[in-house]
Amino acid sequence: QDLGVVAVGFSKGQPKAGVDAGPEALIDSGLLTQIREELGYKLHGDTKVQKYEELIATTDADHRGMKNPFTTSAVNRKISEEVYEHAKEGRLVLTLGGDHSVAIGTVTGSAKAIRERLNREIALIWVDAHADINTPEVSDSGNIHGMPVAFASGLAKDDKEEYFGWIKEDMLLNVKKLVYIGLRDVDKAEKQILRENGIKAFSMFDVDRYGIGRVVEMALAYIGADTPIHLSFDVDALDPMWAPSTGTPVRGGLTLREGDYICEAVHQTGSLVAIDLVEVNPSLAATEAGAQETVRAGCSLVRCALGETLL
Ligand code: ARG
Ligand code: MN
Ligand code: MN
Ligand code: MN
Repeated sequence: QDLGVVAVGFSKGQPKAGVDAGPEALIDSGLLTQIREELGYKLHGDTKVQKYEELIATTDADHRGMKNPFTTSAVNRKISEEVYEHAKEGRLVLTLGGDHSVAIGTVTGSAKAIRERLNREIALIWVDAHADINTPEVSDSGNIHGMPVAFASGLAKDDKEEYFGWIKEDMLLNVKKLVYIGLRDVDKAEKQILRENGIKAFSMFDVDRYGIGRVVEMALAYIGADTPIHLSFDVDALDPMWAPSTGTPVRGGLTLREGDYICEAVHQTGSLVAIDLVEVNPSLAATEAGAQETVRAGCSLVRCALGETLL
């Protein structure tokens, strides 16, 4: 199968340095080679990480409380185009981040391509400790990595082209096709957004109550068979025991096996059109071993989503 690779070393969606080195760490540990040689995918796109240095503004004033809004918008516009180009060709698209703001680009790119190519709406499975659905007005932090779902679904919008105004109707995700797994740190205003929009969410409470097998079964049943699926996996969905090297770790998360299981089960549907793996920040772990563990976990999740562990 053909795989489009988008490797984005981007960190301006949040304040901590180092998450821009995530994709390189994943690639250096052999991820792309394994995907090509062991899993047999034909790779297209980035073999080297893109930093988009030319798009990073030297002054980038806050807009509606958003930090680095101009740069984050510009980089995501490029990501959206790239993901769109791959997906339009019928390639499965793998995006390695970078902070989770990059999903503004990935989700809008695949939503548009799948509408054009298959005349279908994508479903989005968002695996994360966080809901990342703040609108600029309700965000406490102003960090755009806490807002990608809002922008990708049109719950947040802006008239100005340079501040995400480039996101057009045909790029939007339908919030009825969104499912969360792994939530455990959701802001008060986000809870209200989830409630008001009737968004389907399986928190860690549900994982404990039903087990990961039934949670994934329910998530896939909600989406409906045969729906093209975009999987956006924030490595902080995993418990910090497995993935300590990330910007906003939250205890009480998924085990590595539970994360891998989600990816395997989604692969098994045969409906996967895009995968994001984000928020690996090799510089944040207390020990070098912690950084390595996080990179290994990220590689494992991606390989599972690409079918490695299924017999
Ligand atoms: N809800 C918090 C915020 O909006 C944390 C978001 C964390 N997001 C992430 N992609 N790690 O700032
Ligand atoms: Mn998160
Ligand atoms: Mn996230
Ligand atoms: Mn397969």
